[in-house]
Amino acid sequence: MITSLPVSRVPDPSLAPPLRWGILGPGGIAHAFARSVQKHSRQQLVAVGSRSPERAEAFAAEFEIPRVHTSYESLVADPQVDVVYVATPHSHHHAQALLAIAAGKHVLVEKAFTRNATEAREVADAATAAGVVALEAMWTRFLPGTDVLRQLLTDGALGEVVSVTADFGLRIPPEDAVRLHDPALAGGALLDLGIYPVSFASLVLGPPEQVTATGQLTAAGIDEHVRAVLRAGAAEAVLTTSLTARTHTTAQVIGTLARVDLPADFYTPVPLRVSTGHTTLTADPGRILGHEGLVYPAAHLAQLVADGTTDSPLLPLEETIGILTTTDEIRRQIGVVYPGEVTPSPAPAPTP
Ligand SMILES: NC(=O)c1ccc[n+]([C@@H]2O[C@H](COP(=O)([O-])OP(=O)(O)OC[C@H]3O[C@@H](n4cnc5c(N)ncnc54)[C@H](OP(=O)(O)O)[C@@H]3O)[C@@H](O)[C@H]2O)c1
Repeated sequence: MITSLPVSRVPDPSLAPPLRWGILGPGGIAHAFARSVQKHSRQQLVAVGSRSPERAEAFAAEFEIPRVHTSYESLVADPQVDVVYVATPHSHHHAQALLAIAAGKHVLVEKAFTRNATEAREVADAATAAGVVALEAMWTRFLPGTDVLRQLLTDGALGEVVSVTADFGLRIPPEDAVRLHDPALAGGALLDLGIYPVSFASLVLGPPEQVTATGQLTAAGIDEHVRAVLRAGAAEAVLTTSLTARTHTTAQVIGTLARVDLPADFYTPVPLRVSTGHTTLTADPGRILGHEGLVYPAAHLAQLVADGTTDSPLLPLEETIGILTTTDEIRRQIGVVYPGEVTPSPAPAPTP
């Protein structure tokens, strides 16, 4: 029986040694990232690169960033930059990550890492060959609560995991986010929101042996609603994502000895609850809440570099590739194709 919860081993992000960061694509999430990193870490934002001089200047002024680049080529070539944060639509991550790696920079790539597993493999291989860190900014992975869950799973405290559920849906019409409704920008619910439930299932259950998906597509051909069931051994994950409706955005892990509930919004720092039938214990989410938690992957990458490690033990590149292999299979089943993408991974052999 669980009488106390493990303590998170995630270090305070302010302890990570500073790197000099270049921001590639100063849009919505780059603003949240910059605020979080400047408030909670010693990481230095030294450069910004945008296709738009006005956007680059405005971002630099807002965050007191000294170096402004009006091309991504110039940003990645900047000798003052150690690491590039790629914060553009999914369609562009593959080429821009390769650009940064070719210039010898470490790279933190927003989720979804790339459009598909083949592109992710190319980025991973390039980073490995160059001896630099490439990390998916799947921030949930690096949060204190996730480390508590990881320890409960490793220690067997939940018993045998039989079921995972996770959902992430928001109502986002085309007028609110063009990129999410454009197949050419690899829009759709799955890569933008559904990637969180898929990554969560991967953390808990590992790679699925079987994927079964249904979905609804818009007239433009992006997925606006997806339901996927992943089977791994005797366990099953039921995942939903939507651009048409706000869903609970919670996650549950059900084991034979205990259940873990992550309240909304489960992908952010939340107080996860562990219930055994007799008791319910709540884990401290830490002092950094909401989107300020974007600092965690930045600090983790900086620590990897300081330690001379090129692949994250918390989210290895092989797992990022595996997660995209799952989304490739979901997309294959529901018929989502992005124009211009490097070939997705081939369909798996049918399971008997
Ligand atoms: N971690 C999170 O919680 C979170 C939340 C939201 C989004 N994200 C992720 O962050 C990434 C960016 O999302 P966002 O909402 O920040 O995007 P956004 O604001 O729409 O765009 C970000 C930047 O991408 C470039 N861009 C925009 N539209 C483009 C187009 N049509 N073609 C080429 N480049 C374009 C622009 O760079 P220039 O300034 O150089 O033109 C823009 O500044 C995505 O991978 C998304 O999944 C993560």
